[in-house]
Amino acid sequence: MRSIFDLTNKVALITGGGGLLGPKHAEAILDFGGTVILADHHVDKVEEKAQYLNQKYGLGSAKGIYMDVTSPESISKAIENIDKVDILINNAAKDPKVKKDAGLTIETRFENMTPDFWKEGIDAALNGTFFCSQAISNIMLKNGKGVILNISSDLGVIAPDQRIYKKEGFPENEQNVKPITYSAAKWGVIGITKYLAVYFAKKNIRVNCLSPTGVFNDHPTDFVEKLSNIIPMGRMAEIDEYKGAIVFLCSEASSYMTGENMIIDGGKTVW
Ligand SMILES: NC(=O)c1ccc[n+]([C@@H]2O[C@H](COP(=O)([O-])OP(=O)(O)OC[C@H]3O[C@@H](n4cnc5c(N)ncnc54)[C@H](O)[C@@H]3O)[C@@H](O)[C@H]2O)c1
Repeated sequence: MRSIFDLTNKVALITGGGGLLGPKHAEAILDFGGTVILADHHVDKVEEKAQYLNQKYGLGSAKGIYMDVTSPESISKAIENIDKVDILINNAAKDPKVKKDAGLTIETRFENMTPDFWKEGIDAALNGTFFCSQAISNIMLKNGKGVILNISSDLGVIAPDQRIYKKEGFPENEQNVKPITYSAAKWGVIGITKYLAVYFAKKNIRVNCLSPTGVFNDHPTDFVEKLSNIIPMGRMAEIDEYKGAIVFLCSEASSYMTGENMIIDGGKTVW
């Protein structure tokens, strides 16, 4: 019996495919029979991930391409020989993260933020989602169907709790914060989702959004503890825990769903 989750013959283009979660979204698509194009402005990273996926799923499963999602010219060039995209996952973003050796800085504070930081901070997630949706939906419209899946964040529906980024023993003006750019971009991505869902509702193109919360990736222990404390399930997400949602949202299993934002956060936004 054919499964409603089946993605055989479906081609998915995943932006930001060279990062942490992009290749996991790719595995979800590949596990259910589709093929993937990983797009990133770090072409070396997508080529490496595509090579790994081709070894794991068979030659021809994955391709890595250069694309700067903030540039309509770069997107046009990247897709000039592509005439079939069934699924677009707008996943690229500048996501300032907490890391052991680097990450957030006081540059990210609202009162210090430069116009360039602001513009760069919203560019990939917000402008990239717009530019890629515009270019790829034209392919989908020609083919009469498609799925656009935008990636937002729990921080697309709530404000960051800056207490989890706090460094003990530093005055307030030296505290690192999650920047306002991330909120602006991620709330905006949900707005784009709802707008396009209605715009394309009768064109057989569904547009939804997935909002994850923090994925554990070797973060400092005190940060993991502070974040886990504001999550009802008491832990960060494991890297594979969004794959089920990707398959659901990209397949016929969600055929009557459009304009929705699926929040997967261990209950964080419920508290
Ligand atoms: N990792 C998390 O904990 C988490 C939590 C919530 C939401 N998210 C969201 O999930 C998505 C993926 O997150 P991630 O952790 O894999 O991030 P990541 O930083 O590891 O990967 C993002 C990728 O986007 C690419 N990118 C950035 N600007 C680009 C541009 N202009 N053109 C093309 N590619 C560009 C980067 O090169 C990178 O490979 C992001 O939208 C992020 O905001 C992640």
